[in-house]
Amino acid sequence: MEEFLSNLKRTKMCGEFRASDIGKHITAMGFVAKYRNLGSIQFVDLRDRTGILQLSFVESDFPEVYAKSTRIRNEYVIAISGTVQPRGEKNVNKNLPTGEIEVIVDELRILSEAETPPFAISELANVGETLRYKYRYLDLRRPSLQNYLITRAKLAQVVNNYLSKHGFLNIETPILGKSTPEGARDYLVPSRVHPTEFYALPQSPQLYKQLLMISGFDRYYQIAKCFRDEDLRANRQPEFTQIDIEMSYVDKITDVMYEVEGLVREIFKEIKGIKLPRHFRQLKYKDAMERFGSDKPDTRFGLELQNVTKIVKGSNFAVFENATKRGYSVRAINAKGLAKMTRKEIDSYQEVVREYGAKGLAYISLKPEGISSPIQKFFSAEQFDSIIKALGGETGDILFFVADKDKVVFDALGALRLAIAKKNALYDESTYDILWVTDFPLYEYDEEEKRLVAMHHPFTSPKNEHLKYLDKKPLKVCAKAYDLVINGQEAGGGSIRIHSRDIQKKMFEMISLSEEDINERFGYFVEAFSYGVPPHGGLALGFDRMVMLLTGTDNIKDVIAFPKNQAAIGVMESCPSTVEEKQLLELGIKF
Ligand code: AMO
Ligand code: AMP
Repeated sequence: MEEFLSNLKRTKMCGEFRASDIGKHITAMGFVAKYRNLGSIQFVDLRDRTGILQLSFVESDFPEVYAKSTRIRNEYVIAISGTVQPRGEKNVNKNLPTGEIEVIVDELRILSEAETPPFAISELANVGETLRYKYRYLDLRRPSLQNYLITRAKLAQVVNNYLSKHGFLNIETPILGKSTPEGARDYLVPSRVHPTEFYALPQSPQLYKQLLMISGFDRYYQIAKCFRDEDLRANRQPEFTQIDIEMSYVDKITDVMYEVEGLVREIFKEIKGIKLPRHFRQLKYKDAMERFGSDKPDTRFGLELQNVTKIVKGSNFAVFENATKRGYSVRAINAKGLAKMTRKEIDSYQEVVREYGAKGLAYISLKPEGISSPIQKFFSAEQFDSIIKALGGETGDILFFVADKDKVVFDALGALRLAIAKKNALYDESTYDILWVTDFPLYEYDEEEKRLVAMHHPFTSPKNEHLKYLDKKPLKVCAKAYDLVINGQEAGGGSIRIHSRDIQKKMFEMISLSEEDINERFGYFVEAFSYGVPPHGGLALGFDRMVMLLTGTDNIKDVIAFPKNQAAIGVMESCPSTVEEKQLLELGIKF
C-alpha cells in the first residue's frame, strides 16, 4: 500500500550530502538502487539524479522501521528521515562523493512499490536496444543517460544566456508551415479544414528567420525543432534540434563565424572547462576534399590523401589505366607503420571502400620481410619504386589506392582514413579538433535530376567576386558558406544570404525552378525582398550533435529523451500507428 508524503520535505538531493552533514537529522527521497540484508541490519542505496546515498536500517536502534525496511525491493520509491553518521573507516567509499557517510534511518515511508524491472538499472546491464526503448523511462534512470540529458539542459541554458547577452532575441517560428520540397523530404500534416491540403513540419526555420531580419529584429535565435524525413544514421534523427541563429548587417563570412566562435568558446568553457582559441582554423572545401576526402574532416590524425594519377599512368594495370583515360583520379593513403596489419584487417577495408562505391582497394604493403602487393606485377620496377617514393613509403608502411570518379575516390578514401584511424587508435578520444570549412561550391550537379542544385540551400549568397561566373561557369562559383566541424562531425552550418532580389531570382533560375515554381513555393519570400532587406546571414548548430560531442557518446539517441529507433519508430509509444477511420474521414483521406 503506497504511503503519502504529507508534509515531508527533502533536506537536499541524495548526492549532495557530505561529511559536513554528520550529526544532522535529515530527510531524503529517491529510488532504491540496491539493498543488502545482513540480518538485524539492512543497507539501502538510495538513488536520485544527483547520486547515491547509503541508508542503514538497524534493528537494535529502530526495530519497527527495520522490519518495514525488509519489504523494500529495487526501484521502490521511498522517503526516509534519519541521522547522518560517519561510515566506519573500513566502509568509506572513496569513489562516491557521499562515500564517507551513511544515514541511520528512524522513519521510512514506502511511497511506491515496483515490479521487478525488465532489466537491471545499471550501466553494466547488457540490454538490447528494443527493450531499452520500450522501457525508455527505466533506461533513463541510468546515471549515464541522466548525465547526457543534464548536459543537454545545461547547454540550452548556456546558449540562452550567451545569446541574449549578445543582443539576440529568442523568437519562435511555426511548426505548421508550407512544404518547400528542396533538400530532404518533408513530414506532412493533413489539414482538416482544407481537405487535400497539407502543412509541412519545418526542416529548419530558414525562411522564417530571414523574414525576421526583413522585419527588423536584427539578431534572432531559437533552439528550434526540425523535422526531416531522411534515412537515419548514428548522428541523425527524423526530429532533431538546432541552435538557429540569424543576424543583420553582415557581409563577410567572418562576421558570423567570429560571433559563433564566441558562443562555442563559452559552451566549451562552461560545460567542459576547456579554453578554446579565440579563432578556429579554417580550411577551404577543396583542400578538405583533396587532403581528407571529406567536407567534415577529422584532422586529429594524418593519413592524408595524395593524388598519384600522373605517376601511375602507363602501367599494365587496367583498372588504373581505364580510370586515368576517363579523366578519373587515382589517389592513395600511406598508413605509416601499419604494414603489420593482418590480411583480415585489409579485407575489412575492402568492404569499407566498396560501401562508398569503389570497385576495389589496391595496396602495397612494405613489410620488413618483403613487399606484398597484388598490383606489383602490373608495374615496371622503376615505376613501382617511384609510386612508393611519391607517397613517402618506407619499410613498415602500407599504401592504399582507389581509382574512380573523384566523388567515389574521396568518399571511399575519406571513410578508409576514419576506419584505419579508429581501428588503430591513431587519435586521442578526449581531445577536441575544431575547424571551419569554407569556400564551398554554390552548386553541385545532380546526376539523377540532370540539373544544378544548391549545395547548401538556395538562399546562400555567392562570393561577390564570383558573381561574374554565375552564367558561364556556375560550378566554379563559391558560396559565402561555412560549416563548423568538430572531431569530424558537421556540428553546424550556415551562410551569408542573398539579399538582392535579382540575385535571388537568378539563383532560383539556375537551379531550374520555373517562374511558376518560384511563385508557388517561395512567392511570399521573394515578394518580401521588395520591401527593404538588410544584408544578413546566420548559421544553425546541431544541438543534439553538440551534446554528443560534449558528452562523448557516438549515438544521437543517447542525448534525446524519447528518440526514434533506426526505423524511425517510437518503440515505447509505438508510433507511427494507424488511426481511427473517423479521423481519416475528417481529414478527407481515403486509402
Ligand atoms: P543544416 O541542414 O546544415 O543547415 O543543419 C544545421 C545542423 O543541424 C544538424 N543536423 C542534424 N542533426 C541531427 N539529425 C539530423 N537529421 C540533422 N540534420 C542536420 C547538423 C547540421 O550542421 N537552415 C540551415 C542553417 C543556416 O543556413 O542557417 C540548416 O538547416 O549539425
Ligand atoms: P584484380 O587484378 O582485378 O584482382 O585487382 C587487383 C587489385 O586491385 C585488387 O586488390 C583490387 O581490390 C584492386 N582494385 C580493383 N578495382 C580497383 C579500383 N577501382 N581502385 C583501386 N583498386 C582496385
